Amino acid sequence: MDRIYLDYAATTYVKDEVLEAMKPYYKEHFGNPSSMYESGRYAKNALDQARGEVAKCIGAKYANEIYFTACGTESDNWALKGVMEANKAKGKHLVTTAVEHHAIMDTAGYLEKNGYDVTVLPVDEYGMVTARQVKDALRDDTVLVSVVYANNEVGTINPIAEIGKVTREAGVLFHTDAVQAAGHLPLDVQADNVDLLSISAHKFYGPKGIGMLYIRNGVKIERFMHGGAQERKRRAGTENVPEIIGLAKALALATGTLEETNSRLTGLRDYMIREIMEKIPYTKLNGHPEKRLCNNVNISLEFIEAEASLLSLDLAGIECSSGSACASGSLESSHVLLAMGIPPETAKGALRFTMGETTTRQQVDYTVNELVRLAERLRKISPLFQQTHA
Ligand SMILES: Cc1ncc(COP(=O)(O)O)c(C=O)c1O
Repeated sequence: MDRIYLDYAATTYVKDEVLEAMKPYYKEHFGNPSSMYESGRYAKNALDQARGEVAKCIGAKYANEIYFTACGTESDNWALKGVMEANKAKGKHLVTTAVEHHAIMDTAGYLEKNGYDVTVLPVDEYGMVTARQVKDALRDDTVLVSVVYANNEVGTINPIAEIGKVTREAGVLFHTDAVQAAGHLPLDVQADNVDLLSISAHKFYGPKGIGMLYIRNGVKIERFMHGGAQERKRRAGTENVPEIIGLAKALALATGTLEETNSRLTGLRDYMIREIMEKIPYTKLNGHPEKRLCNNVNISLEFIEAEASLLSLDLAGIECSSGSACASGSLESSHVLLAMGIPPETAKGALRFTMGETTTRQQVDYTVNELVRLAERLRKISPLFQQTHA
C-alpha cells in the first residue's frame, strides 16, 4: 500500500497543471521583467496577468494591491513590522491573538522588544476570538489588528468579516494571516474590510518559497526589502516569475473548485472524527466542531504522547503531525492548545490530520484502525493509564 499523506496543512505537492504553467518561465521565457526588450516584456506581461488573477481570487479592487513575497512568513513579517513602523505618528499599539502562527507571534514579540505595545487577546475553548474582544482592546494609539483567518493547528475559523467591520469603523488597520484559509475558504478582502492579507502557495498545491501580501491602496507601510524598484519599490529583488505564475495558477484552480472540494472534505473530516470518537475511548476533539477548516482533524489521545503515536503511524505508512509542523520535533506543548485551556498532558497527545485532494475514505479507515491499535498498545504500557484504570 502506498504511504498515506495526511499532512496537507504542512505542505502540498505541486499540481500538474501548476507545474506545466510554470515550466516555460524557467527556460523559454526566462527574461527579467525589468528589462525593456521583448523577453523582459513577455515576463512582465505574465507577471501582470498573475497579479490580476490573484487580485480576482481574493476580491481585491486593484491588481497593484498584490505584492509577491518569498513565503507566508515574509508576508506576515512585512505586514506587522512595515505597518507599525510606518504609522508611529499615530501610535505604537498592536493587537493580536494567543493562537497565531509563529510568523506572527514571534514578529509581535520582536516589535514588543523594540518599544511597541502589544495586546495578545485570549481565545475561547475552541481557539476563537470575537469581534467584541477586538473592539474592547482598541485604543486611540492602536495602529493594527492581526488575527489569523483559520488556525493552522486546530483549523478553527475566526469571524474575520465581523472583526473587519469593527476595525474599519474605528479607523484601525486590519491584517489577517490567511495562509491556511486560502484554497479552503472564499476570500474577499473588500467585503470583509481586510487591509492586509497573507497567503503562501505551498498550502494550495503551488510551489514552496512563494507568498503574497495584499496591501490595500492607501495603507501606509514601510518597504520590506531595499534595493531595486520591483513590486512598486516596496519589495526589491528580481521577481520569481515561474513561482509567481505557479501561485496564481494554483490559487485560481483552488478557487474554481472550492465548493466541491470543501463539501467532499467536510464529509470525510466529519466521518473521521466520528469514527475516532466512537472507536477510541479517552479521546478529545481539539478545535471548533463546525467552524473549522474542511480538512482538519485534531484530536488528543489521552495518556499517550504524540511523538509515540507519530512514530507508530509512520511505521504503518501514515504521515501526520503533532500540533503544527513547525512545532513538531519539539517537546513543548503547543501554545495554541494551551491558550485554549487544554491541560498540558492532553495537549501533548494532540495529533493533526489534514486531508487533501488524494485523501480517500479507505485511507481514513486504515488510519482509524491503526489509531485504535496503537491506542490500545501504548496505553497498556503507559504507567499513568495503568494507575488510573487498574
Ligand atoms: C497560519 C500560517 N501562517 C504562516 C505560515 C508560514 O508560511 P510559510 O511556510 O510560507 O512561510 C504557516 C505555515 O505553516 C501557517 O500555517
